[in-house]
Amino acid sequence: LGLCSQERADALRNLYYLMIVQSPFDLHGSAMAELGRLLIYEATRDWLPTVSGEIDSPMGEAAVEFIDPREPVAIVPILRAGLALSEHASTVLPATITFHLGMRRDETTLEPSIYLNNLPDQFPEGSRILVLDPMLATGGTIVAAIDLLKDRGVNNKQMKIISAVAAPPALQKLSKKFPGLHVYSGMLDPIVNEKGFIIPGLGDAGDRSFG
Ligand code: PRP
Repeated sequence: LGLCSQERADALRNLYYLMIVQSPFDLHGSAMAELGRLLIYEATRDWLPTVSGEIDSPMGEAAVEFIDPREPVAIVPILRAGLALSEHASTVLPATITFHLGMRRDETTLEPSIYLNNLPDQFPEGSRILVLDPMLATGGTIVAAIDLLKDRGVNNKQMKIISAVAAPPALQKLSKKFPGLHVYSGMLDPIVNEKGFIIPGLGDAGDRSFG
């Protein structure tokens, strides 16, 4: 689990409780987008290629280093719920390119199936990819998504996962199958019940964002 400072983690946790779990329906989507923005900021810290340059500031010329806008970060939201989490990515990152991945978990078997795959056949060497899904429950969905990315030439260090709530079964699967892959999550909740819901969790994230 990618962790930041204790202070920052506490702030994120407070934001999560106030804005996501307790928000009424109409605020949930914007709260999820804001959490996504904060977690994307943390996940991409010291991870993106930079370029050096000079700027003319009011106080004179200054040497600066900034994130290279020529190398867009690939954003992979897992539909539907991942869309809300990815909504503000472009406000944190100078350049992004979005590849949608539609996945649905069967309510009985809890097995995921893919209904939309807009991933390219191969990702260019050195690509950096953020995969966004608010709920990591049994882990079936996120593991299937990461498998698709690995098939396209991406290694574990090139990807990071952004989620709102993660549960142990998903994290254990990810850590066993994809060592070195980092997960940034607003909360780690302890239980996945027999219906595949995270407890306490926040209910059905897709339904809460999109009805
Ligand atoms: C939910 C959730 C995750 C997945 C997590 O999606 O948004 O994608 O289930 O479950 P897992 O870790 O047990 O695989 P859902 O299939 O309900 O689709 P939705 O986002 O369209 O609501």
